Amino acid sequence: MAKIKVDLKERSYEVIVGAEILADIGKIIESEKWGRDVFIITDPLVNDLYGDNLRKGLKSFKHHTIEIPRGEKNKDLKIASRVYDELVRYSAHRDSLIIAFGGGVVGDLAGFVAATYMRGINYLQVPTTLLAQVDAAIGGKTGVNHPKCKNLIGSFYQPKLVCADVETLTSLPARELRTGLAEVVKYGVIEDADFFKFLEANSHHLNTKAFESPDTLRASLKVWQIIVTESAKIKASVVAKDEKEAGLRMILNYGHTIGHAIETLTRYRAYNHGEAVAIGMVAAAEIASRQKMIGTDSVLRIVDLLEKLGLPTEIEGLPANKVVQALGIDKKVMAGKIQFVLPERIGKAVVADNVPIKVIKSVIEELGCR
Ligand SMILES: NC(=O)c1ccc[n+]([C@@H]2O[C@H](COP(=O)([O-])OP(=O)(O)OC[C@H]3O[C@@H](n4cnc5c(N)ncnc54)[C@H](O)[C@@H]3O)[C@@H](O)[C@H]2O)c1
Repeated sequence: MAKIKVDLKERSYEVIVGAEILADIGKIIESEKWGRDVFIITDPLVNDLYGDNLRKGLKSFKHHTIEIPRGEKNKDLKIASRVYDELVRYSAHRDSLIIAFGGGVVGDLAGFVAATYMRGINYLQVPTTLLAQVDAAIGGKTGVNHPKCKNLIGSFYQPKLVCADVETLTSLPARELRTGLAEVVKYGVIEDADFFKFLEANSHHLNTKAFESPDTLRASLKVWQIIVTESAKIKASVVAKDEKEAGLRMILNYGHTIGHAIETLTRYRAYNHGEAVAIGMVAAAEIASRQKMIGTDSVLRIVDLLEKLGLPTEIEGLPANKVVQALGIDKKVMAGKIQFVLPERIGKAVVADNVPIKVIKSVIEELGCR
């Protein structure tokens, strides 16, 4: 088991990473006195798969489980409001504790409810997807979507603890694992060359063949534990230096500028978040190479690793000018604000806002846009 501190003075907390640790969470709540009764917010699938394991450790507490429907479209104020209703019905009070138990959708919504119910009550993040374990559960960004904009309504509100049980990853579909792996590769590129090397050396544990069944995944659980631990360390250190994304935390957006444009253009259907980010990381590395900031050998290593993990590295079937438009480039360039996170080498990235449009367009075309 690994413990990582997210150092935020009086809001500091730990990220615990281990295997089969769900039933131990109750003991920690008891010794830390984080709440007298517990509300688990989860979705029906995660509840079916792992709810009993978590509740096993909560026998000494009054606890109640609230299910929200699965999927991004349910991360909204209507569902949040239903959760408030249920908290009121079951007399949740300032001493109650929320456990956000599931993927990033549950984590963001339950965190938002915890931040706002009675002006903020304690909560824990118990993430069960790779993306949530390495990214969404750490850093205190909570929120819901507005019909016109993703993640528009929310607040920074830190949990008391993040507890990531890698055993839960064994039931994740391959595509969900891959979407998390894109963020994992991102950490290697922006912050840690040794971690990137580790991913290269272990890519055979992280490809479609290794995802064939829960048993093949279980066989490489030690590798997954290292991946979640190292990723959590990087996310924790960036968050500790820049809690509210005033500067440094922006480097976590590596791959997200063009990635978001692709997601928007394909209406979140053709590519999922990690797939779009993978293409965006290749595009940003290519841009950095054209700007003579990074060597072509490093760009090739990034492309090669993403391909080994089964992630896309080319954009198929999108017109280049549409992608450029989706970046909102004209307006943003005039305001001098279009921001790219560009790698200078594997293990170090910088934020740049001076990339010429013709370089962006030519890279997008090279990646397969017509
Ligand atoms: N707060 C942040 O800093 C932050 C960072 C990145 C992403 N996010 C948010 O995270 C969300 C995406 O999160 P996600 O990728 O975890 O998607 P998700 O929460 O939709 O989960 C994906 C699916 O996996 C299922 N699932 C969860 N755990 C499982 C398990 N162990 N086994 C089998 N199935 C399981 C869920 O039921 C769901 O259908 C987005 O809303 C995004 O905005 C937030």
